[in-house]
Amino acid sequence: MALVEVKNISFQYPNGYLAVDDVSFSIDAGENIAIVGQNGAGKTTTVKMLNGLIKACKGDVLIDGESTQKYTTAQMAKRVGYVFQNPDDQIFNSTVRKEIEYGLKKMKIDPDECERRIKDAAELTGMDKYLEVNPYDLPLSIRKFVTIASVIASNCEVMIFDEPTAGQDLEGLARLSKLNKILTERGKAIVTITHDMEFVAENYERTIVMCQKKVLADGKTKDVFFQKDIMEKAMLKQPVIVRIANQIGMKENTLDIKKVAKFVADNRG
Ligand SMILES: Nc1ncnc2c1ncn2[C@@H]1O[C@H](COP(=O)(O)OP(=O)(O)OP(=O)(O)O)[C@@H](O)[C@H]1O
Ligand SMILES: [Mg+2]
Repeated sequence: MALVEVKNISFQYPNGYLAVDDVSFSIDAGENIAIVGQNGAGKTTTVKMLNGLIKACKGDVLIDGESTQKYTTAQMAKRVGYVFQNPDDQIFNSTVRKEIEYGLKKMKIDPDECERRIKDAAELTGMDKYLEVNPYDLPLSIRKFVTIASVIASNCEVMIFDEPTAGQDLEGLARLSKLNKILTERGKAIVTITHDMEFVAENYERTIVMCQKKVLADGKTKDVFFQKDIMEKAMLKQPVIVRIANQIGMKENTLDIKKVAKFVADNRG
């Protein structure tokens, strides 16, 4: 049984706008998934239903086979953690430490365990050097890691990161890549929404493509990215490695730069 089963969910905003239409997918423990799609495709609205921030108008989300319809937002938040697209929608404490600690206190985690989790989350996100700093004295790209640290500390089974790559430099991207690996090794299911196709090609085995409120594709990243029609319909740019592989006539779908280089070397002259 999948850890999370999203079954035919739809969502209409109070103004009548249908933002998500009949979306289904499932997530296993230890999976590391990317969700991609053009602006307004419905990505954020979809994942907010996974975390209970908004309730599906139609369909259901099951966790461990159990319907979440009767869960309160607080109960859901213990199982599925969501890092907001805009960190400023999430941060309200006066120091990074207090921000990470806030959710733990609400969950009544004992002080020793609280300390252990703050240390772990701060180290993973590089926030250890900022613990006593006001989050609003930090740049946006770092504030994003403050919110990621809060969700890591909550130790949820499913962690959703909404556009963590936005505005990140090489160091930030490397940190995201590393923490994704560590968290999935711990058995967490990680769902990342991003517009950075190069980052997806390098870091995610599976990709879900959303287009105009629906799931357009869901499969191995390499197979999804090599489908030109899907990428064009979703208004997504194929990563450079895919364009090169196509250009040099490779038949295999691969995102492995070494394989592409070997193909070039083998076919030289
Ligand atoms: N509170 C709201 N009321 C009405 N419409 C909304 C609301 N929030 C979002 N929408 C609309 O719903 C659609 C889907 O929005 P959503 O934020 O889920 O898209 P997204 O795929 O996350 O886009 P982006 O890549 O820009 O973050 C958009 O057209 C958006 O304008
Ligand atoms: Mg969004």
